Amino acid sequence: MPEQAPPGIDITVATAARMYDYYLGGKDNFAADREAADHVLAAAPEVRPIARENRRFLQRGVRYLAEQGVTQFLDIGTGLPTQGNVHEIAQAHEPSARVVYVDNDPIVLVHARALMATGSATRVVTADLRDPDAVMRAAGELLDLSRPYALLLAAVLHFIPDSDHPHDVVAGYRDALPPGSHLLVSHVTGDTRPQSSAGAAAAYTKTRNPATLRTVEDIASFFGDLELVDPGLVRVPLWRPDAPTSADAEEIWMYGGIARKP
Ligand SMILES: C[S@@+](CC[C@H](N)C(=O)[O-])C[C@H]1O[C@@H](n2cnc3c(N)ncnc32)[C@H](O)[C@@H]1O
Repeated sequence: MPEQAPPGIDITVATAARMYDYYLGGKDNFAADREAADHVLAAAPEVRPIARENRRFLQRGVRYLAEQGVTQFLDIGTGLPTQGNVHEIAQAHEPSARVVYVDNDPIVLVHARALMATGSATRVVTADLRDPDAVMRAAGELLDLSRPYALLLAAVLHFIPDSDHPHDVVAGYRDALPPGSHLLVSHVTGDTRPQSSAGAAAAYTKTRNPATLRTVEDIASFFGDLELVDPGLVRVPLWRPDAPTSADAEEIWMYGGIARKP
């Protein structure tokens, strides 16, 4: 039976959100997504553990932030709902924590409305990271942007090509953060495993979200002069691990870190 597309959603071209869902074992993906993801996995089978380890990093990061007293989260490049979503972790720690989810893939809104927007403390919007005015306007409807918040940019900046000046875009968001705010970033690199990471990136050129591998120095510069908290910018499984993992950190070419604005 042919797959049914949700209204307004193009399922003929693969998207990063639905491919990531496929890597994580979700069901919100279509034939074109699975085909593109299988090409990525053929070039780099470790992409599946990379996706899982990235997700765990994000979850540990949000728990850490909640423990630091963070109660406002702006998550750009949310992805499709899965287990252990940002608002679930934040609100398990502090029920009044507020979360704004932003993604430019409209399918995220379709699924997230049903599964994640469970209360008035959570909002999901379709907007593009490269349009900070639209993002901040939507965020300001739920968050008090004059008070500290956490900006989450997990596994999204590699979908912004250099021609769109991602470092300038992020600098704009960073400058807007009130003191005491945090920035979480994870990003793929070609510094390690250059052959398979390049093969995976090549497979993404045929999707709606071509990917750019960046050096660890380039990834570090997204934090500007914010202060990285321990252990700094590291391969994601090495960021404050809370349980043993079967992943070999050496094969995880995704770096992550959290920094604080003094
Ligand atoms: C790999 S998923 C990451 C999901 C989640 N942040 C995580 O780390 O588990 C990347 C997400 O970024 C979104 N994305 C890509 N480019 C974007 C842009 N310019 N603005 C907003 N979202 C974007 C994709 O639609 C996708 O849902």
